[in-house]
Amino acid sequence: MNYNKKSIEDIDVSGKRVLCRCDFNVPTKNGKITSDKRIVAAMPTIEYLVNHGAKVILCSHMGKPKGEWKPELSLKVVAERISELLGKEVIMAADVAGADSQAKAAALKDGDVMMLENTRFMKGETKNDPELSKALASLADIFVNDAFGTAHRAHSSTAGVADYLPAVSGFLVNKEVSIMGKALANPERPFVAILGGAKVSDKLNVINNLLEKVDTLIIGGGMAYTFLAAKGYSIGSSLLDSEKIDYCKEMMAKAEAKGVKLLLPIDTVVADSFPDPIDGDIAVETVAADAIPDGKMGLDIGEKTRALFADAAKSAKTVVWNGPMGVFENPTLAKGTIAVAQALADSEAVTIVGGGDSAAACEQLGFADKITHISTGGGASLEFLEGLELPGIACLQDK
Ligand code: 3PG
Repeated sequence: MNYNKKSIEDIDVSGKRVLCRCDFNVPTKNGKITSDKRIVAAMPTIEYLVNHGAKVILCSHMGKPKGEWKPELSLKVVAERISELLGKEVIMAADVAGADSQAKAAALKDGDVMMLENTRFMKGETKNDPELSKALASLADIFVNDAFGTAHRAHSSTAGVADYLPAVSGFLVNKEVSIMGKALANPERPFVAILGGAKVSDKLNVINNLLEKVDTLIIGGGMAYTFLAAKGYSIGSSLLDSEKIDYCKEMMAKAEAKGVKLLLPIDTVVADSFPDPIDGDIAVETVAADAIPDGKMGLDIGEKTRALFADAAKSAKTVVWNGPMGVFENPTLAKGTIAVAQALADSEAVTIVGGGDSAAACEQLGFADKITHISTGGGASLEFLEGLELPGIACLQDK
């Protein structure tokens, strides 16, 4: 994958209509935005375009309206937040690339900003329909992709539109790609990757790809129990991806052959069953990872494992982390995830947290400022770690 893409700084945007795809897929509750992290992350690009006299046409998806017009998923609430952050009006279009957008785009003056409606209100968006791509392209002179979180989707507004307009990256896409790209291609060593999350099958290609690159691979979370089973340990009623036992054996053999240290839990916090409700009280004990009693379910890494994983993270020069170590929604079972977040916060290394739950954990714990880079992408950062080509980046002009 070529990450050396032209950016907004490599072209003249002044007086041009610029269609800027962002990832404004932000969480909302009762019509209010509950985290504006992705909006804030897009502001440097928006501000640059405004300050350089572009006519800015913002677009994004939000949620999964599946081609239906759903007022609760309107981007109006995002336009209002951007307006507050920019200190100027953001003109809201009543459609995606229809008559109202066309008229409002045509009337824009240099430095004006408008927002299209949710691109997924259009059936063609997720099908990468050329008709929608052309309609979007007809609004503008230049396409800027700054939606890293959606760069793994080949949709009309993320990739298709680049068939009809000169296409360059925004600052957020640049930042994500350069930090994560450098970590994977040319890391300062020792390079340690920490993977967690529920299922091995969600991370098959990530494990395989990272084993080509890292010095130490740490596996925690629900997926560790399938690795423990592959070592021949009894894992009680812990989560087991039974079809992936051979895969885990293969990965352990690969790590050994490549001289990569593969760290698995040495102790684990167990309970009689999964907490219900997920954040409810739960009675737990800690047992050795090779001696999980029948009927007990592993739900977090134990204290010795926390120290082992934290030491590995602290002595690294580059650390990439994706996925919680246990059921972190439950305070009793969050200690492993907190310990890893704390170890990254304390580490002198370049620390990168790949979106999703681990990013949320760092933010909730107040460690976000102490991490080098927290990705705005969930699925996109995972696909990046898999070494896959992201369509929203591949479609941009090379430098
Ligand atoms: C995300 O939230 O990860 C991105 O916005 C992509 O959303 P999607 O999974 O609905 O395509």
